Amino acid sequence: MLTVAVLISGTGSNLRALLDAAADPEFPARVVVVGADREADGFAHAEEYGIPTFMVPFAQFASREEWGTELGAQLDVWRPDLVVLSGLMRLLPADLVDAWSPRIINTHPAYLPEFPGAHGVRDALAADVAQTGASVIIVDNGVDSGPILAQERVPVLPGDDEHALHERIKPVERRLLIDVVRRVATGDLDLAAVSASAQL
Ligand code: GRF
Repeated sequence: MLTVAVLISGTGSNLRALLDAAADPEFPARVVVVGADREADGFAHAEEYGIPTFMVPFAQFASREEWGTELGAQLDVWRPDLVVLSGLMRLLPADLVDAWSPRIINTHPAYLPEFPGAHGVRDALAADVAQTGASVIIVDNGVDSGPILAQERVPVLPGDDEHALHERIKPVERRLLIDVVRRVATGDLDLAAVSASAQL
């Protein structure tokens, strides 16, 4: 059984979907802990499932590096097989990424490498594209620049605003995330191999 830590900042709807999927005894992964950089609404989903939570408030640390050291210490307590960044709105310090890579993945509401960064949905709308998408990637030390594990196109519809488009992307993001976690757990998807071939 693959053990997973999920890191969030917000409502945790992707987390919720993963928890619901993992509640199926046939699903080959379990969420063992949920962490956040703030008092995130998404903690409620973890609590509902009786899953432990931890918070490492970014604002209380003098630097990103010190924050990352504490976040890493919390993850070390649980020693998950995989770390999922699911709406964590913080860049991780390089030491932490290096410690977990390639066993650390991120979901993103755009078709990477298009529209990386914190405003992927807004940026796609501003660029007036006909389609955007959702991606799941291995985290590296760039901004949403790691190897792509799964992605799918989502059309931009007339009249879309940021909220409407994001709400249409999120179900795709959730489906891709659950599928990637399942494939990592079954061994169908080898993160180390993907990462190594991306570095060739
Ligand atoms: C997701 O689209 C994620 O990729 C983005 O923020 C959203 C998080 O939503 N960075 P939620 O917290 O899972 O509801």
